[in-house]
Amino acid sequence: MSLIMQLPKIMEESRKAYEQIIDTVDQHAFAITEIIGKADIGYKRFDNIVARGDNLQFMKFLIDQKDLKGKINLIYIDPPFFSKNNYRAEIKLKSNSIKKIPMITQKAYYDAWEKGMQDYLKMLTIRLLLMKDLLSENGSIWIHLDWHAVHYVKIIMDEIFGEENFINEIIWHYKSGGASKRRFARKHDTLLFYSKSKDYYFLPQKEKSYNRDFKPYRFKGVKEYRDEFGWYTMVNRKDVWMLDMVGRTSAERTGYVTQKPESLIRRILESCTVEGDICADFFGGSGTLAATANKMGRKWISCDIGKLATLFTHKRLVQEGADYVFYEERNGDKDQASGKIDVDVSLNKSHITDMDILRVELKGYRPESLDDIPVEPKYLPVIEKIIEDDPLQFVAYWSVDYNYQGDINRPDACFCKDNKGIETVYETIGLEFGDVGIKVVDIFGNSSFTVVKIMK
Ligand SMILES: C[S@@+](CC[C@H](N)C(=O)[O-])C[C@H]1O[C@@H](n2cnc3c(N)ncnc32)[C@H](O)[C@@H]1O
Repeated sequence: MSLIMQLPKIMEESRKAYEQIIDTVDQHAFAITEIIGKADIGYKRFDNIVARGDNLQFMKFLIDQKDLKGKINLIYIDPPFFSKNNYRAEIKLKSNSIKKIPMITQKAYYDAWEKGMQDYLKMLTIRLLLMKDLLSENGSIWIHLDWHAVHYVKIIMDEIFGEENFINEIIWHYKSGGASKRRFARKHDTLLFYSKSKDYYFLPQKEKSYNRDFKPYRFKGVKEYRDEFGWYTMVNRKDVWMLDMVGRTSAERTGYVTQKPESLIRRILESCTVEGDICADFFGGSGTLAATANKMGRKWISCDIGKLATLFTHKRLVQEGADYVFYEERNGDKDQASGKIDVDVSLNKSHITDMDILRVELKGYRPESLDDIPVEPKYLPVIEKIIEDDPLQFVAYWSVDYNYQGDINRPDACFCKDNKGIETVYETIGLEFGDVGIKVVDIFGNSSFTVVKIMK
């Protein structure tokens, strides 16, 4: 049966699944595992959120437990495109004893669907229904896709949000990517922009429009300007956006596959939100929406199912100095998988003040088991050897909470691995220190935690 004939069934089955989810009560699907910066968890306040887990359960959690129904002002999603690819990320390792380290990759996320487009559309439709519940009456939703699925998703969006609430189809045109001798080079993505009602917030932006032949028109009442290319006027921003993808040497590059540029998100946020609005991305990847919203004074939520994506988001936002609460989906025993952290903690009297000096040195880390790490088995011996030689190479992030209260980790200091390596010693001075909680996240996104009691 052709796909167009299957759309009513896809819609009906998705609605049923959505209703079932809405009717189920699961109070404990997500738990806070870390609080970064000045964020807090007071019931009535909203704090920025990074979440790791399936967005379906997470959205339900936001509705039931965080009282966010009808409160999110902007949703931007960049889901898998139905590209039928599996996306992998390169692991960069160094070793003194192995001369040539093979290129090792690990799973980032999969975009292959057993039952094809039908499966994909169902996955998305159920989630779009929940997003509609979360969206505020004057809010808008942006779906970022490409030629693979956008035409079907447009029909589904018309059904869920109403044709009358379709606002724009934005063409994001870029230069990068390949070409083929069999067709025109594919150089654009499509973003569908819908509102929830006719009272949506929208602030038009201006852009340059160069005059024909770059010469002045000299029309009465039309202001003209000039730059190095020639004469132009300022017009309302159009629906075709030429923006570069994140380049190899770009400062915002995280290394996460399919990372989108902050300039793209900035355009969306400056037209569809104001400072203090809540923005959410439920297919967050490396946290581009969160990072941009944070810079622009918006509140934000970023959720991704992948450990690697969450690690990239976490690192990016810590480095940005963001304040947020980190939630993780409870997965029974799987949450407990923990590596071995080797750490030295000491407390000494300062010679110049009456305070103490706390010194924490991360000396080593070893994953609990190499069986579960998302790399091909043929690379395991190389990985094993590198861990033996340099047990800190696998640490992507670590943090110290020097007053650990026995429930949630509230780090006083966080360290992220960059091209030069990672800081391994933390020293601070103070009068009161409690138990010291040390969290390590490895390059595969696995978290481990240990508590050291200080001898006074
Ligand atoms: C195209 S990427 C997003 C990239 C992101 N916009 C960025 O700039 O980095 C799609 C993401 O959706 C995530 N994803 C797929 N299914 C998901 C689900 N059910 N719940 C949460 N995240 C999901 C994948 O792990 C992947 O990171």
